[in-house]
Amino acid sequence: MKILNKNIIEFKNVTFTYPEATKSAVKNVNLNIQRGSWTTILGRNGSGKSTVTRLINGLLIPDDQEKSKIIVDDIPLSEKNVWKIRDLVGIVFQNPDNQFVGATVADDVAFGLENRGIPRDEMLKIVPEAIKSVSMSDYINSEPSNLSGGQKQRVAIAGVLAVHPKIIILDEATSMLDPEGRQNILNIILKIKKRDNLTILSITHDIDEAQLADQVIILNDGIKVDQGTPNEIFNKVDQLKELGLDVPFAFKLKHKLSKAGISVPDYVNSEEKLVKFLCQLNSKM
Ligand SMILES: Nc1ncnc2c1ncn2[C@@H]1O[C@H](COP(=O)(O)OP(=O)(O)O)[C@@H](O)[C@H]1O
Ligand SMILES: [Mg+2]
Repeated sequence: MKILNKNIIEFKNVTFTYPEATKSAVKNVNLNIQRGSWTTILGRNGSGKSTVTRLINGLLIPDDQEKSKIIVDDIPLSEKNVWKIRDLVGIVFQNPDNQFVGATVADDVAFGLENRGIPRDEMLKIVPEAIKSVSMSDYINSEPSNLSGGQKQRVAIAGVLAVHPKIIILDEATSMLDPEGRQNILNIILKIKKRDNLTILSITHDIDEAQLADQVIILNDGIKVDQGTPNEIFNKVDQLKELGLDVPFAFKLKHKLSKAGISVPDYVNSEEKLVKFLCQLNSKM
């Protein structure tokens, strides 16, 4: 049996410059993402997050293919095998309205399969299954334009799932949804991730979502400035502020407390745990 690399995505010295741009959008980035993990990329607008996702599935190719290496599921990305890699990586984008090609939900989900020449009888099995896993079976024959933003994103996820990817990238996929719609999408993704042992890469401004991740990567101006667990990353409050990024409330408060001489242990990493810790501290005073 072939032993798979524990990293499903690896970047080695990846640099990419858009044609006619005066500076590179991604500069010398090294990163690794483990199989079955959830990674969140944080960074201001224009920091290179979407460019990284387009590099992962070969929509963009690094400036110098000798110096830069991208490996996805043990396959070194090259023009020759870019289609193989695209089958492994499904991307859900920000705007639900730009993702539809079909006249009905079922047609839309079938689109990626038709493109890949999947036989019709197989399609008739896969499409309803994918729609069911995002809880949209009641809408299978609906017109996508009549759906809410959250429902549209669920259909987009079903379209991605139908192709059976190993990696799903959410490129600000929940940013146009209300908190309820956002939570709903996250729950669905978490459930499917577990079921299919998927690797998730989410790009988000939602720091609560980032706290769910196994690891957080921070990009700034095309450079990877940090990579670590949410705890490690969010404890660096001054760095995050400097980069113009949000800090979860619990970490902001911990930071203030430590400046006031009250050190809060590492395991206290949520508002709930912080409240409990402070109550206990108070009762000891
Ligand atoms: N198609 C493009 N052509 C030229 N420059 C681009 C293009 N897309 C993005 N850029 C530039 O590349 C940089 C990174 O953009 P992007 O990866 O979209 O950042 P993010 O997703 O973090 O907002 C920005 O400076 C942006 O202006
Ligand atoms: Mg982007």
